[in-house]
Amino acid sequence: MRSLGLVDGKIVDLAENVVPMEDRGHQFGDGIYEVTRVYNKQCFALKMHMDRMYRSLRELRIPAVYTYDELISFHELLIQESGIVDGAVYLQITRGAAPRTHAFPEQIVPRLTMSIRPGGARKTELWENGAQIIVIPDERWLRCDIKSLNLLGNILGKQKAKEAGAFEAVLVRDGQVTEGTSSNVLAVKAGVVWTHPTNNLILKGITRTIVVEQLAPKLDIPVIEKPFSAEFLKDADEVFLLGTSTEVMPIVSIDGKSVKSGKPGEITQKIQQAYQELIDEECHRA
Ligand code: PDD
Repeated sequence: MRSLGLVDGKIVDLAENVVPMEDRGHQFGDGIYEVTRVYNKQCFALKMHMDRMYRSLRELRIPAVYTYDELISFHELLIQESGIVDGAVYLQITRGAAPRTHAFPEQIVPRLTMSIRPGGARKTELWENGAQIIVIPDERWLRCDIKSLNLLGNILGKQKAKEAGAFEAVLVRDGQVTEGTSSNVLAVKAGVVWTHPTNNLILKGITRTIVVEQLAPKLDIPVIEKPFSAEFLKDADEVFLLGTSTEVMPIVSIDGKSVKSGKPGEITQKIQQAYQELIDEECHRA
């Protein structure tokens, strides 16, 4: 079992120097990415990730040069060649390499790079007992719906969380909670799940889509997609985060104060269980 890379369809060693100096991903962050989980040698929700990836490309006007079937086969190739059973595949497409100039260069070919790494094993202790978050200002640009390589606001926020000993930083713009630096945020009040609507201010998370459109209706849990304040979040009955790496993470403390009982809530636990069942079903786990 070993981590591996793939460049434009060809397997490479991760340590190999394969990207030119003037790749626009390197110089401008001019590209998009996706992260897909591998459970039991199978990609989870891969079609949804690829659909979102094509949307990100369209929004940035980067031509799509790989078909859906090719991308699926590259994921499968990485899993097969690496021998990795549980892990994550990272995919990025940049506009390509050209002499540095801000506007799109002409005759430029997008570059696909991918990697697979093992692990990303669930943090069982946090999944069972809940994690802490901090609330900080959202200093990102206004197209957070695009999964672009530009993540400065996100990484600065995550570093603040790390330094505060928290799992995640939740972002607030104009008095309203948008999302986490690498996750979506949901609050439960009086049995109703609240989450920011999908617009330019948040990423439409695949995990969020699965929970809002599939699992919550199945469990008869009502969801309202409406912005709310940090005060609302702190006063919620339950809070949880959703994301590919984060999965369904209960939040039990915000800025050092307990969320209600300080324990993962009932609705959060039901959603955790349903999410696990879906993974087991889709990835054929016993
Ligand atoms: N995070 N919001 C932001 C800003 C993110 O970066 C992510 C993903 C999410 C959740 O999206 P999804 O459910 O599609 O992963 C929301 C990284 C890629 C991760 O969790 O691995």
